[in-house]
Amino acid sequence: MMIRHSNQVGQAFQPDAGGTEVRLESLTYRSRRAAHVLWATLAAFLVLSCGACQQEMAEQPSYRPLKPSRFFPDGLSARPLVEGTVARGDARLDREFYTGLRGPEAGEAAVDALAGISLPVARTALDEKPYVAAFPFPVTRAVLDRGKERFTIYCAVCHGPLGHGDGVVVQRGFTEPPTYHSDRLRSAPVGYFFDVITRGYGSMPDYAPQVPPRDRWAIVAYLRALQLSQHAPLADLPEPARKAAETELEKPRGDQR
Ligand code: HEC
Repeated sequence: MMIRHSNQVGQAFQPDAGGTEVRLESLTYRSRRAAHVLWATLAAFLVLSCGACQQEMAEQPSYRPLKPSRFFPDGLSARPLVEGTVARGDARLDREFYTGLRGPEAGEAAVDALAGISLPVARTALDEKPYVAAFPFPVTRAVLDRGKERFTIYCAVCHGPLGHGDGVVVQRGFTEPPTYHSDRLRSAPVGYFFDVITRGYGSMPDYAPQVPPRDRWAIVAYLRALQLSQHAPLADLPEPARKAAETELEKPRGDQR
């Protein structure tokens, strides 16, 4: 009896080989084939089972945003926020700072009532809404500087650098805004200007997304400074500024507005 080395399997059927040897050879051959089949099955199993893992991950019972659900009666997978929920850091409790309006009694209804109604009505309503009359934080030089910078970026393009309503966008055809230097706007409370920036006014879009609340107040402070700059009684100016202003006023006015 002879046991062949494995690399001789291919020569198992030799014409002169004895019966025992042939049987043994064919046994070796079969067992190798079986091993191959086993390995192939194992490999296939591994591949398939891995595929199954992936499948399960893709089909796990969690919901993608906006996916419907049969679990809840309203058919939505997303649960509504509990009433009164606010995003962390987003609780706008200081009503005056965030709206320019006084006290909760003013009610959102009054604010909403003004949205989208005709301008004459809105103007009448100006007196009725409880606008904040004082700045919600101290107006310092730094606040005014910030306000000037933001005003120049966001407002001057239409309202002009001094607020006369002659900005470059207007010169190119946009609706002309009213001057800030009218009695009506000089006597309007600061909360009113804040409100106009926050919610827009007539053909003026709102600037709430571009200008955060603190910057809106800074702009209003600068707007007040602009109004004063065009309407200050001479007697209120400090001596050197008054002299300079008087000399300036004596000059022929030319095309100044
Ligand atoms: C795209 C041009 C444009 C920009 C930019 C703009 N406004 Fe206006 N604004 C207008 C127009 C136009 C009106 C008049 C709207 C109307 O009467 O329909 C107006 C009106 C106003 C009024 C007067 C409201 C009243 O009662 O008459 C104020 C105050 C005002 N804007 C402030 C601002 C401030 C502050 C900014 C910058 C944050 C600003 N605007 C940016 C175009 C603009």
